Amino acid sequence: EEPEPEPEEYLFKIVIVGDSAVGKSNLLSRYAQDEFKPNSKATIGVEFQTQSMVIDGKDVKAQIWDTAGQERFRAVTSAYYRGAVGALLVYDITRSSSFDSVGRWLHELSAHSDTSITKMLVGNKCDLEDDRAVSVEQGRRLAEAEGLFFTETSALGSTNVKTAFETVIKEIY
Ligand code: GTP
Ligand code: MG
Repeated sequence: EEPEPEPEEYLFKIVIVGDSAVGKSNLLSRYAQDEFKPNSKATIGVEFQTQSMVIDGKDVKAQIWDTAGQERFRAVTSAYYRGAVGALLVYDITRSSSFDSVGRWLHELSAHSDTSITKMLVGNKCDLEDDRAVSVEQGRRLAEAEGLFFTETSALGSTNVKTAFETVIKEIY
């Protein structure tokens, strides 16, 4: 009798959501490839990257999905969220409208994913302190009210990017 193939023991799907141009694709490329693209184009459809790490001596793989913030470039919503166990909700600290949209992204997430999904609110572009339009306190309050983890990041400066992803992954694990 043939042995069953070894299952991939720990493979977690994580989705990134948020308005267009908040830096979702750059957070992913910074995390997975340590790359930043100053002139990155808007995402069309879906892209994903798999990142491996070792937690408690076990191999853990995170499959991280990234889609367009712009409605017309979005992937099929239900397929995008299916099976996700973690989510990063990203806004741009220099653009209030992207922070105001977080509620809408939370709503979409709750409509299409499991209630137990681990969520992290991410205020990106914290390198642009002079242009800040959303305070750290505002981010923290929203996260507390909605039961989300919270951090500010800079994909440009590499600030907290690894922590943002790995906090979610460790919580799931
Ligand atoms: P969509 O694919 O349209 O949903 O956008 P996105 O959220 O993937 O944004 P993307 O990563 O393409 O970044 C948009 C713009 O913001 C690009 O010009 C990036 O170079 C810039 N950007 C992303 N992250 C940062 C950051 O941390 N700091 C600064 N200063 N710029 C950033
Ligand atoms: Mg993108």
